[in-house]
Order: sequence, then structure tokens, then C-alpha cells
Amino acid sequence: MCGIVGVLGNHEAAPLLVEALKRLEYRGYDSAGIATVNDGALDRRRAVGKLVNLSDLLVHEPLAGKAGIGHTRWATHGAPNVANAHPHRAGPVAVVHNGIIENFRELRAELARAGLHFETETDTETIALLVQHMLNQGMTPRDAASAAIGRLEGAFALALLFDGEDDLMIAARKGSPLAIGHGKGEVFVGSDAMALAPMTDQITYLEEGDWAYLTREHVEIRDASGTLVNRPVQTVNIDLAQVEKGGHRHFMAKEIAEQPTVLGDALAHYLRGEGIELPGPGLDFNDFDRLVMVACGTANYACVVAKYWFEQLAGISVEVDIASEFRYREPPIPPRSLALFVSQSGETADTLAALRYCEGKAQRIAAVVNVTESSIARESDLVLPIRAGTEIGVASTKAFTCQLTVLFLLALKAAHDRGRLDGEELDAHLTALRRIPGLLNTALAQSDQIATVAKPVSEARDVLFLGRGAMFPLAMEGALKLKEISYIHAEGYASGELKHGPIALVDKTVPVIVMAPSDHLFDKTVSNMQEVMARGGKVLLITDARGAKAAGEDCWKVLVMPEVAALLAPILYALPAQLLAYHAAVAKGTDVDQPRNLAKSVTVE
Ligand code: F6R
Repeated sequence: MCGIVGVLGNHEAAPLLVEALKRLEYRGYDSAGIATVNDGALDRRRAVGKLVNLSDLLVHEPLAGKAGIGHTRWATHGAPNVANAHPHRAGPVAVVHNGIIENFRELRAELARAGLHFETETDTETIALLVQHMLNQGMTPRDAASAAIGRLEGAFALALLFDGEDDLMIAARKGSPLAIGHGKGEVFVGSDAMALAPMTDQITYLEEGDWAYLTREHVEIRDASGTLVNRPVQTVNIDLAQVEKGGHRHFMAKEIAEQPTVLGDALAHYLRGEGIELPGPGLDFNDFDRLVMVACGTANYACVVAKYWFEQLAGISVEVDIASEFRYREPPIPPRSLALFVSQSGETADTLAALRYCEGKAQRIAAVVNVTESSIARESDLVLPIRAGTEIGVASTKAFTCQLTVLFLLALKAAHDRGRLDGEELDAHLTALRRIPGLLNTALAQSDQIATVAKPVSEARDVLFLGRGAMFPLAMEGALKLKEISYIHAEGYASGELKHGPIALVDKTVPVIVMAPSDHLFDKTVSNMQEVMARGGKVLLITDARGAKAAGEDCWKVLVMPEVAALLAPILYALPAQLLAYHAAVAKGTDVDQPRNLAKSVTVE
């Protein structure tokens, strides 16, 4: 994780760095820091906690200079304190780093033998000391940086600044993304283009193993072998309104409310003509016997929902795994497999590693991503954008429902390709899908009612979520949302599994949230719900009007959703789950958009 930024500009760097870090704070907020070179003198400021603490520090201890680097940290090696905060400095070198240097212990021992002195517990300080060590041997900054970068193992994006050099920055990437921004007589680096958006929309993405030697007038990029390379400059359109709260109290609230719009946009993107149009090279599901879906967290739950769709609609066997397990499991990948990776950020380290594992094994590699310039997108044969727009809140909301929408379209295409849905049936499904934005709007109107229910939920210590069929992964997603932003312990279970153990947890203090549209599984779920109520459990039933009439009577609370086509219920029911978590977190007073210990883009394994 962590976000990095660098500026070789014509204005004071500190405000620009802080503004860019604000846009990178989703990557971590354990500490923040900047370093600048001013009339040749390298200096830095660092503060623990959120960026606002660094901003306060800069008011009392300003930092001048038009060249600078900055960092926002998600701690990996070493506690989140000032000493471990970036930029790290060793003599004339300062560095900011995102990623993990895996061989830092060996390097540390080697540098210690050479007489260099460590001040922190971080892997990053090793980079600064390694460059210093090379400089001590008489190398130029360019040669020292190149030699040091060549010694680093692991994943990194980094930027280096040198004492005495007002017009020099060196940046490198291996395993973590890094963008170079081009201005007029200015140059910038950032973990993503969004960080650089106020400064420039002219972006070059470094490729794996690249490093760049930057001055205000000159950008020189070399690949891992040292060969000079030409990486294209792209115009990146970032809607700055996307990174504002737009009148909402939290980004999460804004992003929940945006779902009808962004989902409609995603549908318009894929339903251009009569049927489903995928971008890029074609995809024929008759070419595959198996679908392997890999993702993390919420994106993984989207895959589990989609497994029900692919199996039921298209009759194709599906394997779903969480990326951190998949990558080391050494699973056999049959040759006629489509490997599908789902990731909002497109930078999740485990998902990227799983993708690389499938390269050369699966017949095709496809990515369902929000950030289309991301590493996962760039390393896939086929990129399917979810078009959710920038998601800032750490808890994924609109990306989840957009992932589901794109995966549902893919499942329909698979069923159509494989002759299991004729044109008329396909149309009927698409008509139902087109109704979803409107239904989401109806569900959104219940936000106040959900806030009332969320109040007592926020006082619980444990909460259970139950669902059956494709509502089971949604129950897990509901539990994840609640625990990550309200810190309430929550678990999602398959309703039928409860009596095999978890029902022992049930008593009158544990709210049990049952997500059950009135579909073919409803009666079975209601039986499981009654088993809970018979043991004093208090049930919040989320269902439709028919379900409420049939089974709502003895429940503690009932939330009524609009009627929806059975297969599409997970998309609609995501919304009350998100709102419940949101309002519970607000009632508890937690930090909704930046919950403790988390970061949005998980670029370490
Ligand atoms: C939970 C959440 C995470 C992410 C997970 C994968 O609300 O946001 O569980 O879903 O870290 O991230 P991406 O989708 O960026 O690969």
C-alpha cells in the first residue's frame, strides 16, 4: 500500500505534495511526510496519523523548495511512528516507497558491515542507505540509484531526492504502479494519475522494472536491462468532481447514492446494440470448459455470487478462490479455462500474482476492473471495465454492484454462446437488468428507515447475516461491510449451515439479519429463520412485500425491498446491506471513509 508523490515544479512544492497526498490517502493513513530540496538543502517533515497532522505541522514548521517528494503510509515494517514515517533519509538521499523490499535483511546486514547506521525498523530506510553507500563510493546520483535499484528484490514504487540537486528526481517501479505526469517545464510522479490530476492530465505509466531519471525539462526512462525506452504519454481524463463529497457527509454515502447512475452507465456501455457488446477482442464461451475466478474481499464475494449465475445460466463449471490462497495453492489450470480476475483498484498484489500464475496456463485471461490503466488491466488479454467511477471510501460499495452487473452480463453471454438461452430469454433477462437502477433508487429512499434499524444494530457486539443461494455470498458481504467500518464482529453464513455450529452463538443480544427475497428458496430460509427465533434470536428480515406478508410477523424488524427478478436480487439487496453498515458506523461514530487499520488499494501481499 502507501501512496507516493514527487514534484519538480516551478511553484512551492509543499502545498502541491499535500494536495496530491490527500488524493492518495485511500492507500493508507498511518503517517504522512514530505521532503523538499530548497537552494540545494534537503529537509523533511513527518507526522503520525492522518494527513491533517502533517498539514498542521507544516503551518508551524513550513518547508520551502520547488522540488519535493511525499508519502502517505500504511505500515508494514515498523510501528506507525515518526521515526518510521517516510520520507526516509540517509545522508544526502531521501526516499519515499510503496511496497516491500523482501531482501532488506540481507542488505541491512551488508550495509551494517560497511559501517552504515540504521535509525528505523523499516525496509525502506535500506534503500536510502544503499544509495548513500553507492554515493560514498564516488558514484553519481544516477549511477548510485541505478545500482541500488538493481539490488532490490520485492515490490516497489519509489522516488528519490538528493541534497544539492534542485532539479533531479529518480523514480522506479517493480510490482507497484507509478505514473509520471508532464507539465510545462515541470514533472511529477505519483502512485496514480488521480493524485496528479490538479497538476496535469498528461501521464506516462512506467512499466514493470522501469526506472526514470527526471529533470524539469527532461524525462529519461530505462527498462530493467538499462535500455532507453519510449513509454507513451496518455491524456487521462479524471473528473475532479468524483473526488469531492458532493454534499454528502461521507464518500461512502455519496458512493452508495451514486449506484443507480453508475450502474446505468455500465449497462449503457455494454448494451449498445441489440445484445451484449464486449469491448476488445471477442470472447466465445464455447472455447472454455471451466471458469477460474480469483479476487479478494468484496470483489471475491462478487465472484461467488457470479458462480451461481454462471453455473445456473450457462452450465459452466466455476472455481472461485481468494487470491492470497490461490497463488500458493498451485492449482492445476486446465487448458480450456478462462481465468477471470476481479478487482476495483486493479492493483491488489495477491490478485495480480494470481493472474501471473495463470499466464501461459489458462487459455484466456480477462479482468473485470474499475481502474482501466491498472496493472491487472494491463496484464490481461481482455479488460472489462465496471465503470463505477472513482471510489474513495475504503469500503467498496458502488464497485461491488457494478462488478455484479458486469459479471451478470458475462454469465448471460456465456449462456447465450453455449446455446442455453435463446434470443427471447436473453432479452427478458436484459429487460430485468435494465430495471435495476430504478429499483436501487426505490431502495435508496429507505435510507432513513434503515438508519433507525441500524441504531440498535450498532449497539450489538456480534451480528449474524444469513442468506441462501446467491444471497449467501451477499450475507458475507453484508458482514464484511459492517465489521470493516463499524468494528462490530459480524459473520455471514449460508442459512442452512447455521444449525451445524454457528446457531450456538444465537441469543437475544445477537441481531440476525436474514436476506431473503421471496424466491424458490424463501421457504427454506424462513425455516432457518424460525430456528433462530425459537432460540430467542432477534431477526431483521430483509425481503420484499410478499416475503414480509408471509414471514414478517414475528420478526424483530422487517425491511421491505421492491420486487426484483430472483437472479438479480444480490445486486438490489447489496444496497440495504451497505446502508445498514453505513448507518451503524455513523451511529457508533467511527471513521466511515477511512476505518482503522485498512487501506483501499492493497499492494502488499
Ligand atoms: C471491502 C473492500 C476490500 C476490497 C479488496 C479487494 O469493502 O473494499 O475487501 O474489495 O481489498 O480490492 P480490489 O477490488 O481493489 O482488488
